[in-house]
Amino acid sequence: MTRREAHAPERFVPVREGGLAGVRVLLGVSGGIAAYKGAELVRRLRDAGAEVRVVLTENAARFVTALTFQALSGHPVRTSLWDESAEAAMGHIELARWADEVVIAPASADLLARLAQGQADDLLTTLCLATAAPVSVAPAMNQQMWAHAATQANATLLRSRGVNVFGPASGGQACGEFGAGRLLEADEIVSLLQARRGPRELAGARVLVSAGPTYEDIDPVRFIGNRSSGRMGFAVAEAAARAGAEVVLVAGPVALATPVGVERIDVRSAREMHEAVLARAKSADVFIAAAAVGDFRPRDIAVHKLKKASRDSGLELSLVQNPDILADVAALEPRPFVVGFAAETEQVEAHARAKLERKRLDLIAANEVGAGLGFESADNALLLLWPDGREALERAGKVELACALVSRIAALRAARASA
Ligand code: C5P
Repeated sequence: MTRREAHAPERFVPVREGGLAGVRVLLGVSGGIAAYKGAELVRRLRDAGAEVRVVLTENAARFVTALTFQALSGHPVRTSLWDESAEAAMGHIELARWADEVVIAPASADLLARLAQGQADDLLTTLCLATAAPVSVAPAMNQQMWAHAATQANATLLRSRGVNVFGPASGGQACGEFGAGRLLEADEIVSLLQARRGPRELAGARVLVSAGPTYEDIDPVRFIGNRSSGRMGFAVAEAAARAGAEVVLVAGPVALATPVGVERIDVRSAREMHEAVLARAKSADVFIAAAAVGDFRPRDIAVHKLKKASRDSGLELSLVQNPDILADVAALEPRPFVVGFAAETEQVEAHARAKLERKRLDLIAANEVGAGLGFESADNALLLLWPDGREALERAGKVELACALVSRIAALRAARASA
């Protein structure tokens, strides 16, 4: 089971110059110490080519001034629903219609709660109800407030309604605590927005992803597992869904939220994962095996908890091999585009290329595990290898890497289709 919390910092492709050219962004800033970072975000959005108008909540205006945001956005800033002259210039409904994107950064716990409730008790929440534009929120708050069941339920509800929740990141907080609740960096928010609006490279493709560890039961209370957090596979599923694919995610035991728009099937053992994947693999266009499947399982599962026979007695477990899900999918005829992962501790490229050939894969994503990389970390670095090429992806967030992997898969499939 993962030892970190589920909300890894997200990062996406580097901000493209002009990546938001002509996009009209309504930036909402709610009340919190991170409100000052909203000023930097206005700059970054404009650098990316967006036109920005800013709405401050009443509490945000206690932390930052409208004047700052007016100077940076080049437009008057609105804070109230009841400002007659502002309503005369551009009424709130016009403003809601004007926006191509609504972004709220920082989004406080209170703001998330009010959005989840569908309240319209100030200008910003009213705009969120009145707009047809996609709404994205970048939460920022004390880590305890973010972890609170009420806030988590609100975030889940908002996600289920299609609101994009960007972050939050983990790290040191203004209150002196450490944990998840930091506002993403301005560049990260811009790149997430850009990626969301970016090309839909896998539109219409059916993508099957395996993720997480497997647990092989020994008896009713014990199992053999591994340290996979499932984050890489979940990030791949999320990236594929954002690229327009229809995604089915077969997940081992992990405590991660299902990415928006992804169908999830929970399994426990390698054999359950094998069955769930093989049942769907023939009708998939792409299979991405990101799971860390246990190679062995106990020959028998004890019906009752195993007891120690005496103080110094040992226990011998007899293990048998699990099926190789990836190899079995690669042997199907017809078969999807097959992508494997290879976690290696040394000679990464040589071992991964051997695996690519041995398992007859179309692509393999290799990574070095250990030294703060790989299984349990939020960051990773990947080396992509395919029969006649390679691409090294530098250390980055798993979502960013997953996007690059998805782009490579799309490019290789496109090249194959046109060959
Ligand atoms: O051979 P190795 O376990 O290193 O291969 C790793 C790749 O094979 C990963 O993509 C993993 O998901 C997949 N695999 C599998 N079923 C297994 C073992 C590994 O699908 N039983």
